[in-house]
Amino acid sequence: MNIEVRFFSRSGNTKKVAEAVANAVGAEAKDCSEPLTEPVDLLFLGGSVYGGGLDGNLKQFIEQLDASTVKRAAVFSTSAIVKTPEKEAEGLLRDRGIPVSSHSFHCRGSFLIMHKGRPNDEDLSGAAAFAVSAADEAKLSADG
Ligand SMILES: Cc1cc2nc3c(=O)[nH]c(=O)nc-3n(C[C@H](O)[C@H](O)[C@H](O)COP(=O)(O)O)c2cc1C
Repeated sequence: MNIEVRFFSRSGNTKKVAEAVANAVGAEAKDCSEPLTEPVDLLFLGGSVYGGGLDGNLKQFIEQLDASTVKRAAVFSTSAIVKTPEKEAEGLLRDRGIPVSSHSFHCRGSFLIMHKGRPNDEDLSGAAAFAVSAADEAKLSADG
């Protein structure tokens, strides 16, 4: 099963989560400026919230994805206030006809004086567990 991980992270919070996700499934976490070069069974996508909405760089990446080469996507995110920013990414993926995993992951990310030290070890363990669950689901689906 071909698994790819793409993220966009300005201050490094989502990057930490992306690396925990990638380690858990034996993949490499790459910035979303790196295009997909071959068909993907499961694409993990991570981003954060700026000005109340999902970061525009991740939105742009989603907008150029092709449902014929991305079988399924699973979303993770960090934010300081917004509770479920991954829902915005999932909506954009569905608009492009890309099936979305039933698993997603969100945790707090440090911002100014808020959420110091987040994501922390517990967050990263949760991210790894999410990655394994999403990969298991994709594999079961691929096996028919
Ligand atoms: C300029 C700026 C604007 C932000 N706006 C929001 C926001 O509107 N809502 C929110 O929940 N978090 C907001 N945040 C917090 C970030 O989403 C949070 O710190 C996130 O973990 C950053 O992830 P990153 O380092 O991967 O980019 C903002 C952070 C910055 C620096």
